[in-house]
Amino acid sequence: MHKVKDLTLKEQGEQKLKWVESRMKVVNSFVMDHIKEKPLDGINIGMSLHLEAKTAILAASLERLGASVSVTSSNPLTAQDDVAAALTERVSHVYAWRGETPKEYDDNHRLILNDRPNIIIDDGADLSIMAIEAKRTKGIIGAAEETTTGVKRFKALEREHLLKFPVIAVNDAKGKYLYDSRFGTGQSSVDGILRSTNMMIGGKRAVVAGYGWVGRGVASRLRGMGANVTVVEVDPYRALEAYFDGYTVNGMNEASQYGDLFITCTGNVRVITLKHFEKMKDGAILLNVGHFDVEVDARALRQNASSIKDVRPNVREFTMKGGKKLYLLAEGRLANLAAADGHPIEVMDLTFGLQLQSAIYLAKNHQKMKDIVYKVPDDIDELTVRRFLELNGIRVDRLTDEQKKYQKSWQEIS
Ligand code: ADE
Repeated sequence: MHKVKDLTLKEQGEQKLKWVESRMKVVNSFVMDHIKEKPLDGINIGMSLHLEAKTAILAASLERLGASVSVTSSNPLTAQDDVAAALTERVSHVYAWRGETPKEYDDNHRLILNDRPNIIIDDGADLSIMAIEAKRTKGIIGAAEETTTGVKRFKALEREHLLKFPVIAVNDAKGKYLYDSRFGTGQSSVDGILRSTNMMIGGKRAVVAGYGWVGRGVASRLRGMGANVTVVEVDPYRALEAYFDGYTVNGMNEASQYGDLFITCTGNVRVITLKHFEKMKDGAILLNVGHFDVEVDARALRQNASSIKDVRPNVREFTMKGGKKLYLLAEGRLANLAAADGHPIEVMDLTFGLQLQSAIYLAKNHQKMKDIVYKVPDDIDELTVRRFLELNGIRVDRLTDEQKKYQKSWQEIS
């Protein structure tokens, strides 16, 4: 019989790292492209990203390219302790654990700033905003931002002329936003629901709030597993798209009366509130996969519950006055990360390939850059996607000279 050896926390983390590392083909091949040149030599990188195994491989890869990397997690619930322990062997500094208090979260970010980063890799912009607010931007040559919420915050800083260094919006690269939010969050949200509840998705009435890239992905994956999906939207165009995609489109007031499963993906605040909880069925499950924990009003749940208890890992039961029970996953924080491992490896390989190239780009080009938000350069975007296709054995045709000429002739006319 095969006997599984008891592993230490660090060994368990290293096992996770090895599993994802061997599958992050794009990141590995980009490291090999640059390993001799070491373009990040002498550069301190401060990272605030969800610290799971793929993030650890990005950090370790940057260190292999010469950087001194300090890592913390971009959400108090998303660091994996075994991964953090293993990563201490591969990068200069790790300051993160699962379940940080708000003060510990801030302290860990401050420790990253104490390591004097030259480049920041952010997910949600907390680290960069802390640096700007604390006037600790000296030596920072640029940042790269991972997520929609972070890019919005950086653009607001740019508009107010408060940005103190160039930022590359990795989130907005075609190789990221077309795949990461939709397929990544789509799959990982279902993963979080399955791991925490062990419930059948088929036959459930799932209510997805928000039909941006994340909502589209979540709705499609839930439908793929047999859920009856209702989409709640405020944007009429997106609502129409959801309708033409074949979903029921409804208001939250109405949907809260029949939903079994509620998933918020709006990036906005108080999407599900007390008036909705009051209408919900006994046993309804609530989760959020938007960046901040503000979409489900967890405070109202707490204040209106007669008792609260944790009934499974990542599942909190709220018995409401009157006896109805509602269940909140992962405290209303990103359930795809806090109750699962985040996006699948292939998606993060693309995204982190873009992050790695963006860090190299900042190191080489920062002197020519202004304190504004930049797109990922098109050549990096396309290189990353083409490399992924090539390494995964997916063939893509090229236009013939005749086709190029034909296409060009039409462009000239129109
Ligand atoms: N893994 C690391 N960062 C992630 C992110 N922003 N979303 C999902 N999975 C991740």
